[in-house]
Amino acid sequence: MSTSLQPIRVLILYYSYSGQSSVLVRRLATGLGDQGAVVHQERICPLHPLRFPLGSIFKTIRLMLTTFFRRRHPIQPLEVGEGEPWDLVILGGPTWSWNASGPILRLLDTYPQLFRGRPVLALISCRGYWSTHWHYLRRRLTRMGATPLGPLVFDHPQAEPWRTLGVFFKIAGIAPERSSSPLSRFYRHFGHTPEQFEAAQQLGRRLATHLKAGSIPPDFKYIP
Ligand SMILES: Cc1cc2nc3c(=O)[nH]c(=O)nc-3n(C[C@H](O)[C@H](O)[C@H](O)COP(=O)(O)O)c2cc1C
Repeated sequence: MSTSLQPIRVLILYYSYSGQSSVLVRRLATGLGDQGAVVHQERICPLHPLRFPLGSIFKTIRLMLTTFFRRRHPIQPLEVGEGEPWDLVILGGPTWSWNASGPILRLLDTYPQLFRGRPVLALISCRGYWSTHWHYLRRRLTRMGATPLGPLVFDHPQAEPWRTLGVFFKIAGIAPERSSSPLSRFYRHFGHTPEQFEAAQQLGRRLATHLKAGSIPPDFKYIP
């Protein structure tokens, strides 16, 4: 950890397909910055970018099926160097078919040295089913010599079955929240709420305070 003379340094590595994790990460980083932390954010970019929305039900089912089997998505090389002295690494991104997303799986395969020997806090954006994703991340991080922390989990707070249907149709390109859609009566909004984004910023502030004090408590979690 940094001494009181040095700023806290946090590396955030994240992937976001439909923009939700991006906003969460931005707000978390703002909260960390409010408390004087130096934050380097790097978005993981697939080598072959995935269009959002995919534009067809067939492509949506195919992506869900392949991610169920933990298909890796090749990624572009990272800009961040391997030997930098981070006090904390934050690994953020969506749940895909009960798993980490394909680009994050490839990141873990390719850059274990960014995690090894460091505390790594997981941030998960999901519709509602995140626990298998978290258990997998925790296992992988532990095996590569990192200390997994968290998770910080943000779900979509809409009622079922609409949130599941809503996400499926949104990815397929049929905007279910649009007033012309018959689903809009039940599904008014895709993704997280402004209150959840505000909570991410507050978590960033608390996190920086813990880091300045020397360590993050093992019960530092945010779970719906
Ligand atoms: C291929 C695919 C599979 C998904 N599978 C799950 C899932 O198993 N559980 C879940 O809660 N959400 C699932 N989701 C929903 C996303 O996790 C959710 O929409 C998240 O907020 C997206 O974050 P992003 O905008 O940063 O990509 C899936 C989304 C996609 C694209």
